[in-house]
Amino acid sequence: MADDSGTDRRAGRPVLVAVAWPYASGSRHLGHLAGAYLPADIYARHQRLVGNRVLMVSGSDVHGTPITVRADAEGVTPRDIADRYHAEFVADWDRLGISWDLYTSTGTENHAAVTQDLFLRLLENGHIDRRTSNQYYDAEAGRFLPDRYIEGTCPHCHYAEARGDQCEDCGRTLDPEELVDPRSKITGGTPEVRQTEHFYLRLSDFSEALGAWLDGRQGWRRHVLNFSKGWVEDGLHDRAITRDLDWGVEVPVDDLGPGKRIYVWFEAVIGYLSASKEWAQLQGDPEAWRDWWEGDEARSVYFIGKDNIPFHTIIWPGMLLGYGGLNLPSDVPANQYVTFKGGKASASRGVGLTIGEGLDLFQADALRYALAASLPEQSDTDLSIDEIGRRINEELVATWGNLVNRVLSMVHSTCGGVVPEVGDRTADDLAVLATVDGALDVVTDLIERVELRAALRTGMDAAATVNAYLNATEPWKLARSDPERAQAVLGTALAAVAGVRVALSPYLPFSTVALDDELGPVDAWQRREPVPGSPIGKPVPLFAKVDVVELLAGDDG
Ligand code: MF3
Ligand code: ZN
Repeated sequence: MADDSGTDRRAGRPVLVAVAWPYASGSRHLGHLAGAYLPADIYARHQRLVGNRVLMVSGSDVHGTPITVRADAEGVTPRDIADRYHAEFVADWDRLGISWDLYTSTGTENHAAVTQDLFLRLLENGHIDRRTSNQYYDAEAGRFLPDRYIEGTCPHCHYAEARGDQCEDCGRTLDPEELVDPRSKITGGTPEVRQTEHFYLRLSDFSEALGAWLDGRQGWRRHVLNFSKGWVEDGLHDRAITRDLDWGVEVPVDDLGPGKRIYVWFEAVIGYLSASKEWAQLQGDPEAWRDWWEGDEARSVYFIGKDNIPFHTIIWPGMLLGYGGLNLPSDVPANQYVTFKGGKASASRGVGLTIGEGLDLFQADALRYALAASLPEQSDTDLSIDEIGRRINEELVATWGNLVNRVLSMVHSTCGGVVPEVGDRTADDLAVLATVDGALDVVTDLIERVELRAALRTGMDAAATVNAYLNATEPWKLARSDPERAQAVLGTALAAVAGVRVALSPYLPFSTVALDDELGPVDAWQRREPVPGSPIGKPVPLFAKVDVVELLAGDDG
């Protein structure tokens, strides 16, 4: 893993890359990938190369009504559903090259223990109390209807199939009693109201502290800050953190009696901490997690989609304040949505390609490229098979793939199959290398600010500059007229390619490694001069052009 790199990671700053925990309730689609997993991986890979100590964690969110509703529908156990999709996600991450330090699940004993510790500390500190409330009850099924067991019309956007926890159409979080015309997901009947007892997180205790904290945030995305400040200004409500459900982390006190579990959204966010602790245990250094959670030096960056914003900018920070001693998020660069030919991509509504389907159609790096080039960082972006194919052919293959192929082929054939000696470089030679080195600096600044689209653009522009340098110097003609100059130009072009490769490496891990034999491993954020005399074999193209017409013929969307 990243630890094997030549840089001394202990010298760097601890950076926690915290990535949204996907519900193990169905296949994840390309919108999720572009929303959280791909940006997190790009960011983490860059952070490691600049010498920081990255801890990138996440896992499958195996609890809550998303899983039980699915299990009920299929007549299998919640565990069957969780195991099936957890295995699928692990396979997806592997095919995509997502460089987790730990990808676990909320179904572990460790996660339950860390959740219960947090719960008990908040209870002890007076931030959790017990209340009786009215909840929907399905008399025919003989049970309460938490979260997704209840559906109805969204009071905000009037979407008719809003769920009790959230409206998938406008993205607002909901309480079941806000729904207009509620109906039971189990029997379809109109539910009655009954009293039930639950634990509540006194989020209102933190109104002032959270408001002040948000006011002090700098460099955060404007849509994230505006949304979060608006939430606090509307008044923070205390929130039920247990449910009438028999699937989830057990409540560590028995006051409520049987049939209750901790609410999935209370425990899932704790996963960032429990996974860090699990990672430390696996390292054989159980206290090692503290470096990423305590002290001013550590940074924590949370990669999520916009429907998860309040849980990460308000509720989780509130829980951390109530617990005490642990760092709040340094940044929450939430992405907007990816739409797929218009409608919001959604696994539960079957819109858009799943990650597995995307990987069946495209090479992993090509898919990563196309998604990274249209990340929904500031506003929603639209994707289609057509557009992904266009980006791969017209940008990735045309600019970067061809450049690598062109330079390696010419070095192979013109320089006797080895990296040439360069001798004195002209002003033009030095200029192209300076452009590449400058691009590496700019890419670092942009990735630090999580402007990953612009950073990719910068790397690709540098590749275009190297192409322009070749077109201007025409080494294929020099090979006959001035062989010594041809060697200098090709040696310079190769050095420039080596630098662009570093700039693109966080985006294109597989094709980066594919050049290790020719250019050596990328193990630091700097351009290294290729060593004269090292062999350069006949190159194999890094990327294949895709035939969009053929792909679309196989697509019924
Ligand atoms: N499981 C949630 C979803 O898929 C995300 C949870 S993020 C977490 O929307 F960090 F809170 F777990
Ligand atoms: Zn709505």
